[in-house]
Parts: sequence; structure tokens; C-alpha cells
Amino acid sequence: MIEATNLVRHYPVVTGLRSLFSAGRHKVVRAVDDISFQVDAGKVLGIVGESGCGKSTTAKMLVGLESPTAGSISIDQDDLGEMRIRDRLAFHRQMQMVFQDPYGSINPSHDVFQIVSRPLVYQGEKDDAKIRTAVLKAMEQVGLNPPELYLNKHPHLLSGGQRQRLCIARAIILNPRFLVADEPISMLDVSIKWDIIRLLRQLVRERNLSLVYITHDLATVPTICDDVAIMYLGKIVEMGPVKKILREPRHPYTKALIASIPSHVPGANRQAADIKGVLPDAIKPQVGCLFHDRCKVAIDVCKTESPALVNVTGSQVACHLVNSEGGN
Ligand SMILES: Nc1ncnc2c1ncn2[C@@H]1O[C@H](COP(=O)(O)OP(=O)(O)OP(=O)(O)O)[C@@H](O)[C@H]1O
Ligand SMILES: [Mg+2]
Repeated sequence: MIEATNLVRHYPVVTGLRSLFSAGRHKVVRAVDDISFQVDAGKVLGIVGESGCGKSTTAKMLVGLESPTAGSISIDQDDLGEMRIRDRLAFHRQMQMVFQDPYGSINPSHDVFQIVSRPLVYQGEKDDAKIRTAVLKAMEQVGLNPPELYLNKHPHLLSGGQRQRLCIARAIILNPRFLVADEPISMLDVSIKWDIIRLLRQLVRERNLSLVYITHDLATVPTICDDVAIMYLGKIVEMGPVKKILREPRHPYTKALIASIPSHVPGANRQAADIKGVLPDAIKPQVGCLFHDRCKVAIDVCKTESPALVNVTGSQVACHLVNSEGGN
């Protein structure tokens, strides 16, 4: 099980010479602002939200590409921040990431064998036979069959879907227990994206992986995720089992997202969207609920107090209206 607790990532914003010398008084982007969640083995958590809400920053912290400003990440209760460097490296071996851009995240001068085998080589594996067997197995598992057909090809000879399969093969070759897929289908054709989603779901089942699936496309979530967290400006505003959130969304922002997905998505309760305006400036300090400017049902307290994420019959919601009325 992987657990994130009160995870925060702020980026200082340097706007001019004066801000360089005003130590401690920098403006900050609150990219991720105190979020907590857990993902059990064999389960998929979806993280959904608009551009700039902090999805990729969360992903990078989970796999160790960014350090949290505050908060902790643990796997089976072992806290990443308290580990010695050697243990932390071993820990990161268990966590791998699939990126949005299957074109940009692989070295175009390497052939398929070099790309998929590289993580093993970096980890110090020298036995050529073992490396070859592991490469063939990973490629078969992601559907690049027969693997021998692809081994000596360069990535520009592969289709977009095949390239993303290649990236997934590279991500699973070290037998990770935890995978983060950051918008893995957003650059793929519609015809291919469902194949990749089914592949990820199958890997979770067969390998008992924990997967964090990041997307701005809520329509794909029911096919792959068990739970979903809706993010808005660095915070989780609603989280719970996918079926429940789609059928009974409580937060006005979640309702607006669901209203915007295609009508054929099963189990989605599409109501009129109570939303106006655009995403506010991430640097401007916000008072009250971060969503209140865009919320048509906001009440006075929403302008002054930030709502806590509280349990509401099987899910968690951060909305004053839901808390005060016991539902909306
Ligand atoms: N290295 C950085 N320095 C400063 N600000 C950053 C940095 N990385 C991200 N940000 C800011 O943090 C916020 C969250 O960015 P992030 O990339 O996590 O969003 P996202 O939800 O992944 O968006 P998208 O859907 O567009 O990929 C944004 O306002 C972004 O501009
Ligand atoms: Mg992103």
C-alpha cells in the first residue's frame, strides 16, 4: 500500500530583482496544498482535474522526481523521508512512471531493446541472457508481440500506441509495485486509448500493482479506476469510490466535471453545471473556499473559510454547503 499524507509542494515565484533579495517573502504557487490519499495493492486511484491543478506535481513527488515541501509518502508504512539514501533508491525501484508523451520520453537514437533494458542495466544487471529474457517478457506482457519483431527497431518506426506500450514495458521491467501514469493516453488516437487503458488495468490485476492514473478526462475513469480524487487548485475537493462519485457527486466542481463528460459514460449522473468563470490565478492568495468565485451555490462562509475534507456517507467532500446541509 502506498500512502501520501498531508503532501505539499510550493514553488517560489521570482518576479524581479527585489523579490530575489526579499528572503522569506516570495510569492508562491501552491501547486499541491495538503493532500492525503492511499492506494492499496491491486487498486487504481484516478486523479482528475483541470490543467494546472497539481496532478503532475503530485505524480513527480510520488516517484521521487520532486521533493515535497511538507508531508510524507510511505509504502507499507515505511516513510520515504526517513530512509537512508541507499534504502530510498531501492524504494524508488519499486515505483515507476509512465509519461504523457510517448515521443518525448524515449531516446530516439536507441532501439527498442536498449530502451526497455535500460532500467535493468542502470540497476547493475550484467547477465545478458537474464536481460534479454526480462525484455522479451515485458514486451509480451504489454502486447508487443512477437517481441523479436520489434527488438531492433527504432521508436520512429512504431505507431503512437506501440510507443506508449514500449514506455509501459520499460516501466514494468523492474517489477515495480507501484506505477504512476500521468495522462498516458492524452496524446493517443481515440481508437488506441481504450487499448492502453485496458492494458494498464490488466497489469494491475496480473501484477497486483498499485496504480495512480492521472487524467483530465473523467470519461475514462470508470473503465480503469476503483477510486477517484478530484483536484482543484492543489487541493482534493472530493474523493471516494468511482461509482459513488459518478452517481452521487456532492461538490459543485465534481458536478460540473461530470456534466461535461459524454452522455454514454455508464453510471454518470449528469446534472446542470453550477460553475462560472475560469480557473483563478494560482499565485494570487485565496481566502475561503478556492472554488467560491466560480460556484453558483456559494454561501457567505465560502468566501472566508476554507472547507475541510470530511467524510460524507462513503466519500470525502470539502464543501461548506454539503457540511451544513448534510448533503446537496
Ligand atoms: N517547476 C515549477 N516551477 C514553478 N511552478 C510550477 C513548476 N511546476 C509546476 N508549476 C505550477 O504548479 C501548478 C501545477 O502544475 P502541474 O504541472 O502539477 O499541473 P497539472 O495538473 O499536471 O496540469 P496539466 O493538466 O496541464 O498537465 C501550475 O500552476 C504550474 O504552473
Ligand atoms: Mg500535468
